[in-house]
Amino acid sequence: MRFVGKVALVTGGARGIGLGIAQRLASEGAAITIADIDVEAGARAARNLNDEGATAIAVACDVADPSSTDAAVRKAAAEWGRLDVLVANAGLHVQGYTKPACELPWEDWRRMLDVNVLGVVNSARAGRGPMARSGGGVIVTIASMAAYKGENAYGVSKLAVNGLTVALAKELAAEGIRVCGVAPGLIGSEEIMARFPAHRREQYINHTQLIRRLGKEEDIANAVAYLASDEASFVTAETLLVTGGAFCRI
Ligand SMILES: NC(=O)c1ccc[n+]([C@@H]2O[C@H](COP(=O)([O-])OP(=O)(O)OC[C@H]3O[C@@H](n4cnc5c(N)ncnc54)[C@H](O)[C@@H]3O)[C@@H](O)[C@H]2O)c1
Repeated sequence: MRFVGKVALVTGGARGIGLGIAQRLASEGAAITIADIDVEAGARAARNLNDEGATAIAVACDVADPSSTDAAVRKAAAEWGRLDVLVANAGLHVQGYTKPACELPWEDWRRMLDVNVLGVVNSARAGRGPMARSGGGVIVTIASMAAYKGENAYGVSKLAVNGLTVALAKELAAEGIRVCGVAPGLIGSEEIMARFPAHRREQYINHTQLIRRLGKEEDIANAVAYLASDEASFVTAETLLVTGGAFCRI
């Protein structure tokens, strides 16, 4: 129970990896705010968490919009009186963005960068004040193994997230805020199961990963819980790859 008395906000926490993270932090005692653009799904996720004995609220939030993100974080901080952990998880998926950089429509490039990159900036800007007033905190960004491949708008956006993890860690250290990242590999979230055919998943698992199983939301939640906990109090500016050994590198 590493988060008793702590307050956590998860962007994009209504489903998938974000929901897994919210469930995990709640199971260790954190009060949870689900901040999602899908208001209905966010409310449903918070209701389910409360039914399971957690303490959770949902707030509307479009991380691409600074005023929406500010309002969501302010609402959460007012509800709980503090903010200890902010997980910048909300992000658009690779599938719609695999076209070559020179061919992807301009508005798709814009939306990708607005959500995946500026969404992290907006979240950090909004969370910084309440965290500093709580005596410090932890921001965990969710990047992707795609950051390491040098391909397409999605990969570029996630490489920028890795850069932000370091830049924000340097900027916010003096306020007692650590900033770490998790870069997931192939995780069997609803979205991936729906869009990634079974034969492609199998091929990927057997030919790219060292650990021959599909990644689970809990695998990412475990890594986030470690980085957000006091066990990682000497760790900042680091991104942890959780990929089953895909794309090993030194
Ligand atoms: N699933 C994977 O295999 C995988 C791999 C690597 C990285 N990731 C990253 O993990 C994160 C979560 O992925 P997932 O698979 O759970 O995705 P998902 O699509 O299942 O869930 C994303 C959630 O974010 C919300 N969201 C989308 N845009 C938003 C916005 N502008 N503001 C607030 N909320 C918004 C959605 O409503 C949804 O609830 C993303 O950043 C994704 O890039 C996922």
